[in-house]
Amino acid sequence: MMKKTAIAPANIALIKYWGKRDASLNLPLNSSFSMNLSELSTTTTIQFRQLKKDEISLDGHDATTEDRERVVRHLDRIRKIAGTSFRARVVSRNTFPTGVGIASSASGFAALTLAATRALGLRLSEKQLSLLARRGSGSACRSVPDGFVEWVVGKRDEDSYAFSLHPPDFWDIHDVVVLVSRRMKKVTSTEGHSLAPTSPFFQVRLRDIPRRLSLLKKALKEKDFSTFGRVVEEEALNMHAVMMTSSPPLLYWEPVTLKVMLLVFQMRDEGLQAYVTLDAGPTVHVICQANDAERLARKLRTVEGVIAVIDNKPGKGARVVEEHLF
Ligand code: DP6
Repeated sequence: MMKKTAIAPANIALIKYWGKRDASLNLPLNSSFSMNLSELSTTTTIQFRQLKKDEISLDGHDATTEDRERVVRHLDRIRKIAGTSFRARVVSRNTFPTGVGIASSASGFAALTLAATRALGLRLSEKQLSLLARRGSGSACRSVPDGFVEWVVGKRDEDSYAFSLHPPDFWDIHDVVVLVSRRMKKVTSTEGHSLAPTSPFFQVRLRDIPRRLSLLKKALKEKDFSTFGRVVEEEALNMHAVMMTSSPPLLYWEPVTLKVMLLVFQMRDEGLQAYVTLDAGPTVHVICQANDAERLARKLRTVEGVIAVIDNKPGKGARVVEEHLF
């Protein structure tokens, strides 16, 4: 009874969320856009019962105090909506190892939101789920809908949510994810958001986002890959320029990050259409067309210092599944 399991994808931001106008509600300063990733996801089983406290296991271990508090805060929001005081057993697994530079907060909070609300018998619309997932982690609101997703900045809490612009099969482009470091990042994205406005470039970035977002959506609609790729790469470098020039500065790149980026630029000069983007970490996401993905992945695996290369298609959003983790 009251046990449900959900799966949700990680997503790669093509127009980035960097900077919040309200940190307690995770309200962003700009709209963002992402693609769900088919091979990187979180599965979460939750059961509400009479327990003394929430029991939370992430990838086979008890959650750290910090992770635990964040999950409990989110469960409290959901308990409040459902009007229950039951505690929960939560077991969550990622398809990727934690701490290797793939953010699990987007897939994690999207899966948790769907599993927990369903386990309590709540039937929320996709919009309501996205709004609620956003409270757990901003980018999680984009892991709820399918495929290619826009998160509108909105005016209030109730209208800052994400929706699908195109289904996963709209365009078979790939994100070849290149893991280059096992080190945990020192500055989390949550901390980083508050530094964004300290960069002298931040206001310039913010003013230009609507233009870049509409250019990206147009290129996507027309399946114009070279424009699409150029906008994606320009956007990533723009966000990292803001990061590097904030105070204190944030530099998420490792030597191998740059090595991979330079190799992609070189392959592009030689005629292969591929573009890079990076979130708040050293992992490089190489965006390419389906036909080129295998060759690219093979080449990237030969770079010294690369830990793993994972080829992703556009993925579905969060959904309930029947097989439970306990
Ligand atoms: C660089 O969603 O992880 O990946 O809302 O504090 O949980 P919180 O931050 P988070 O920020 C993601 C930042 C980013 C860009 C993006 O995904 O849009």
